[in-house]
Amino acid sequence: MKLKPLYIVVISCIQISFAQNYEAKVDSLMQLMTLQEKIGQTTMYSGNWDQTGPFVGSDNGKYIREGNMGAMLNAMSVKGTRDLQKIAVEESRLGIPLLFGYDVIHGHRTIFPINLGLSASWDLKMIEESSRIAAEEASAEGIHWTFAPMIDVSREPRWGRISEGAGEDVYLNNRIAEAYVKGFQGDDLSKHNTILACAKHYVAYGAAQAGRDYHTTNMGEGELRNVYLPPFKAAVNAGVEAFMSAFNELNGVPTSGNKFTLRDILRDEWKFDGFVVSDYTSINEMINHGFAKDSIDAAKIGMNAGVDMDMVGDVYRLHLQQLVEDGKVSETYINDACKRILMAKYKLGLFDDPYRYIDEKREATTKYRPEFLAKAQEIASASSVLLQNKNETLPLSNTTNTIAFIGPLVKDKADILGNWAAKGDRYGKAISIFEGLSAYLKPEQILFAKGCDILTDDESGFEEAIKISKQADAIVLVMGEDHHMSGEAASRTDLKIPGIQPKLIRKIREANLTKKITLVLMNGRPLNLSKEVELVDAILEIWFPGTMGGAATADLLFGKVNPSGKLTVTFPRNVGQVPIYYNMKNTGRPIPEHWPKADYKSNYIDVANTPLFAFGHGLSYTSFKYSELKLSSETLTYSNAIEASIEVSNTGKFDGYEIVQLYIHDKVGSVTRPVKELKGFEKVFLKKGQTKTITFTITVEDLKFYNSEMTYGVETGEFEIAIAPHSDFKFKHAFNLID
Ligand code: NOJ
Repeated sequence: MKLKPLYIVVISCIQISFAQNYEAKVDSLMQLMTLQEKIGQTTMYSGNWDQTGPFVGSDNGKYIREGNMGAMLNAMSVKGTRDLQKIAVEESRLGIPLLFGYDVIHGHRTIFPINLGLSASWDLKMIEESSRIAAEEASAEGIHWTFAPMIDVSREPRWGRISEGAGEDVYLNNRIAEAYVKGFQGDDLSKHNTILACAKHYVAYGAAQAGRDYHTTNMGEGELRNVYLPPFKAAVNAGVEAFMSAFNELNGVPTSGNKFTLRDILRDEWKFDGFVVSDYTSINEMINHGFAKDSIDAAKIGMNAGVDMDMVGDVYRLHLQQLVEDGKVSETYINDACKRILMAKYKLGLFDDPYRYIDEKREATTKYRPEFLAKAQEIASASSVLLQNKNETLPLSNTTNTIAFIGPLVKDKADILGNWAAKGDRYGKAISIFEGLSAYLKPEQILFAKGCDILTDDESGFEEAIKISKQADAIVLVMGEDHHMSGEAASRTDLKIPGIQPKLIRKIREANLTKKITLVLMNGRPLNLSKEVELVDAILEIWFPGTMGGAATADLLFGKVNPSGKLTVTFPRNVGQVPIYYNMKNTGRPIPEHWPKADYKSNYIDVANTPLFAFGHGLSYTSFKYSELKLSSETLTYSNAIEASIEVSNTGKFDGYEIVQLYIHDKVGSVTRPVKELKGFEKVFLKKGQTKTITFTITVEDLKFYNSEMTYGVETGEFEIAIAPHSDFKFKHAFNLID
């Protein structure tokens, strides 16, 4: 006989109807729970469908049956989750359903560009759509919860995980955080196609010293509050249901044991009422940090600091009960943590139907739907950035006799998905660039040579590559990083295109002095392209563009789609400039205009201070002209807004999108302010010859920051303002904020 879970029996006995709020239901369920069962809810282990950290074994079936597990990661598929959920619901004392989490980062089956690429679309609607589709596909395979979005601001191209975020800017990260949360969670979590989002990695993980993953972060509270915390606040405001604490320590205190960030800020200031999960064994890792004596101490610190769920570390299950009995952890903390986790399960509808995400038909019919793939193609082309296009090298013409496609990534179907590609099929489904070409070129027009590998120094393919480059009328090189070179634990000290690829580029240029060469780049971070900008004519940055990346790239190369992406992170001239970001401080001896003729200024002696490609940069096949900026008033008050507007005209030969950016500079502050800050943007479509007026409304809200007292507010005075196509400009206009 199939038993009814005890919680259903009891809850119906005490006549709590489903119309009553979740909280009452959770409270009554919790009255039935032992302390160890509550601790069980705060415990997560890993299934075997994937491994996303060092292997840690656990006795999953036993723990589920005992009520010692509330959630699992890396467990999926309808069959897999049904088997596990059945144990939880039918064989544990209270029958509380499990929560299944997974890293659905830039798509689940249908893979979109890596997140840094997605951000380069500056298209919030597309980003929301990409996470909506990811949630559709993931939820159809039993997943309730994604460990995304990653909203770590980062100014560190050496850090492999810069690929998982939205770049260096605070404002853009805020907006993008909201878009992801909306996409994953939808408007109703109880629908079977919506999943919990998780804002990670809280906090300042993107500021790892020297870009080395998991490394120390140190910063003043002002920088923390003005730069690294805002996207997390934006996620809270957007209704994100979960947070993930991080691996790094912050000012000497590991972020998975940091009461200041987890309780004081997240709970007390921001009133976040969802739950916090640790990163993978990050509670235990406080021992290595030198912050916890042993795993008992680590469990104590983690729970007391406000981490509600222990991911894989097994320290909560083992030690929390004793810690409560010894008076070292308050039972209230366990109750609060358990309640938050149960609330999430209620919101997902798992108490109404623990199997609601488990449906063979949905699983079979949801993945790779044609409309998902079409969207992935559209988003991939919108995410690519045309960095350089000398002499209108691009678009290519499909009437050219022959084009040589050279490089280790021309035929690639694995790297093109990027890191963290969830269940994306690296071989079967992904469309390589080579395959994408077939929509535009006949086989006899295509010459191909791999030339070299990404990482080995085998030059035996150079000869063939050079030979076909000489035969062809145009040359396209497809090169970059291997997908393992970005993502977690993939920091680099060198930002050059890896291996012998740069040498092959040089050889091909030497053999073809006048021929037009295009470089298509796949990579997960800003690269040092200082040599390549001289050697090739056009550079198209496609990041790792996902399942439909090859088709999207061909659309761009042949001009069916006009490039519109813009950089969300600065490309340096060399690694020595790092960190280099547009919203820097001025210093007392600002960077001279005409490098290198400057004495005692804040410049390098061996390279210009300017980046190779600035934040916000990205070309189009058409050209855009910006008129003079108009301000509705040069005086802003606390109660009145002002409007800044500009006319943008498409003056070139193609229709296209332009990303129009609003920047403001607070000239004098009680703490110094960045030289410019993005405060708004609009992506606008302009037909050839068309002009549109773009207007931004500015209020005091846009000018607020944390001062040295950690008060959030504005200060009266002069503000420079510009509306520009990228961050590399000089201000010409200003307004005053008066009382
Ligand atoms: C460690 C990573 O830091 C985090 O981003 C991820 O969500 C977890 N592992 C789970 O796979």
